[in-house]
Amino acid sequence: MPFPLKAYLEQKRRGVDQGLRRIFRDGSGCPKALWDSMKYSVFAGGKRLRPVLCLASAEAVGLPEKDALRIACSLELIHTYSLIHDDLPALDNDDYRRGRRTNHKVFGEAMAILAGDGLLTLAFEWVSDPEAYPRPRRGNLPRVVRELAHHAGYPGMVGGQVDDVLSERKKPSLSRVLSIHRRKTGALLLSSVRLPALLAGTAGPRLKALTKYGQCAGLAFQIVDDVLNEVGDSKELGKSAGSDRDRGKMTYPAAAGLERSKRKIGRLTEEAVGSLALFGPKAAPLRALAEYMAERTN
Ligand code: IPE
Ligand code: IPE
Ligand code: MG
Ligand code: MG
Repeated sequence: MPFPLKAYLEQKRRGVDQGLRRIFRDGSGCPKALWDSMKYSVFAGGKRLRPVLCLASAEAVGLPEKDALRIACSLELIHTYSLIHDDLPALDNDDYRRGRRTNHKVFGEAMAILAGDGLLTLAFEWVSDPEAYPRPRRGNLPRVVRELAHHAGYPGMVGGQVDDVLSERKKPSLSRVLSIHRRKTGALLLSSVRLPALLAGTAGPRLKALTKYGQCAGLAFQIVDDVLNEVGDSKELGKSAGSDRDRGKMTYPAAAGLERSKRKIGRLTEEAVGSLALFGPKAAPLRALAEYMAERTN
């Protein structure tokens, strides 16, 4: 029987949204303009893929969902901050995101920059609270927090964003595209599957398999984003199609063409799915998610 992904996504997203609403329950002490700006982007209707991947990975390694939820929500806060900053005039200068006006278009650039800063730091405040985890897991928490910082920081997302910006209008090179994509997008997706495993104390071949999965699916995810920017529909995407070409972005299709991009997505997805064999049926959600990420249209 095929995995019921639609129902799975709906159910997990509901749990994640509940967790996120809890984080935003009490804004006392936060300037109202900042609170409104942060909430605007977090609750703008993202796919919640990173938190869902996190919960699916938790399931594969036998970590109870409630123990993984803080990590899941923190990933979404960091991802949302990265989108707000990515859309700023100084970076991609985009007007639409998640089907709405971008944060800086509504709240102004100053508040958009500060909302990003606020979300990034809020993520670490939430994920690092030892009281939120059962006692036997707490010893693994520093490793989780450190790896999250590493993948979100200059070795990962921030560094990838730097090279993405510096590569605009340069002659595309496949090795450079791969290096950008692995960091700007792949790193946080890799974190999404590794962090619950680290919290659970998973090591050895199982951690290695999840790492392979995260690397392959994470890279494929950004190549799909590139392809959709070329051939997708702005309304369905909730953001402006065609913008990569306009800005001279160094994308996978710019370096290798659309057909090779699609073949690469197929190969990476197979590799991601194939890496999970040793988990058996417990990894069914992760397998279905890799296929969904490859075939998505938004
Ligand atoms: C978009 O990510 C930005 C990239 C890293 C490619 P998503 O496609 O996951 O965006 P949302 O969260 O659904 O808006
Ligand atoms: C997004 O990359 C990566 C991060 C936000 C870190 P893109 O700039 O290619 O993604 P979209 O197309 O704006 O969502
Ligand atoms: Mg960008
Ligand atoms: Mg962008």
